[in-house]
Amino acid sequence: MTTSARLAERAVASWLRRSREGPPGPFPHRPVTRAVAAHGITALPGGLEHRLLDAWDRTRESPREPGGPEWATALWLECLTSSLRDAPSYDAYTMTALFGQWCRLGDAPRRTARLSALLAADLVRHELRRAAREERPAERRFRTTAATRLARQLDAYDGWTDPGATPPHLETAQALRRCGTLLSAGGRGLPVPLALLVESSLPVATAEPDEPLFLRTVQIMELLAEQAACHIGEAHRQALAATPEPAALAAQLRATAAGIAHAHHVFHLVTTIDPAQFAAIRAATVGTGALQSTGFARLERRCRGTAALRPEPLAAIGLDAAPTLAPPLCAALARVTARLETHDRAAAARLRLATDAVNEQWRRWKRTHLGVAKKIIGDVPGTGGTDGVRYLARHLKEPLL
Ligand code: HEM
Repeated sequence: MTTSARLAERAVASWLRRSREGPPGPFPHRPVTRAVAAHGITALPGGLEHRLLDAWDRTRESPREPGGPEWATALWLECLTSSLRDAPSYDAYTMTALFGQWCRLGDAPRRTARLSALLAADLVRHELRRAAREERPAERRFRTTAATRLARQLDAYDGWTDPGATPPHLETAQALRRCGTLLSAGGRGLPVPLALLVESSLPVATAEPDEPLFLRTVQIMELLAEQAACHIGEAHRQALAATPEPAALAAQLRATAAGIAHAHHVFHLVTTIDPAQFAAIRAATVGTGALQSTGFARLERRCRGTAALRPEPLAAIGLDAAPTLAPPLCAALARVTARLETHDRAAAARLRLATDAVNEQWRRWKRTHLGVAKKIIGDVPGTGGTDGVRYLARHLKEPLL
């Protein structure tokens, strides 16, 4: 057994002992996270596995204040142990089950934006440190360039920058400083549950060095899709109002386009994943494919209604988890734009422009996703049971609105 696994097992055993006598105090997330990073969930030593399952069982019974440390620990253990309990899922593997509940505790669009930016900063920092240890110069340059390109989309204080701006080139040290400032909330430190969400949310299945990168990119994009779906929900409410406010509607559409644009930038890093490592990751994460993504399903179904219900994602995500809306936003939006044409053509043009921006970013995301999939898996079936890149190519041109 490795030192990290031994330390983690001891820490969880002592927490369990304390929990039998009274309130056990903070859960030892850090040593467990280190052991998971060293082994991968699928290869944890049996003793640690059992202790984690006992801890999961214990936290299920405990009362918890939503948003507090016990609440976050219970949801965290639920995700972490899901594959140990033979209940693997995309939500648990990506920890979006925990992220989603945390974001819904308050102003969801703001929380999703902040958390996704923090995870992006953590990813950039992780990748730059890894690149610094890389001995092959070409590989080091490749990884450093991809990470600093993503760092350009981040602001040290505000999270994501405006995707319309052209941020200047960044040196590695500047990128690291920017991410450090963001992750320490300008030196003040993140609140405890948020720090836990950032620092302990990589339940990797394997010890492949590229898995943290893959998992983080999925988490960030999932949050951005949820954020875009929130803005689309608001745009939908506006479009169905008795007297829709065109400027507010266009602003929600621009915010949607911005979220998808940020997600597109994250692909710079996905392209650096080694195909052989990815094959090992896929084999260890059966049952957790992105067809189960509720964020992307919600986004598509709110926009396109029943036209977004392809059999594959519908089987993976039922209508309860991501219902379709009637009329969908695209129909409601067409009606508002047509009505505006008769008395305010400038406002109608602005609305069309904002709609086009959403579609343009969506198609760009899909094109890049297909390109990355071709490069990394080639012509093999997808984990969700589709014919892989051919499935993606068939649905490439569908607009969101
Ligand atoms: C190594 C990189 C990636 C590869 C090789 C890849 C490959 C694929 C494939 C083959 C599919 C078809 C469905 C199936 O699994 O059978 C798919 C679907 C999907 N992927 Fe990826 N993907 C990658 C990264 C990502 C990332 C980072 C995200 C962000 C969350 C993502 C989100 C999705 C979504 C939402 C779908 C469902 C799309 C739909 O139904 O139209 N993928 N991916």
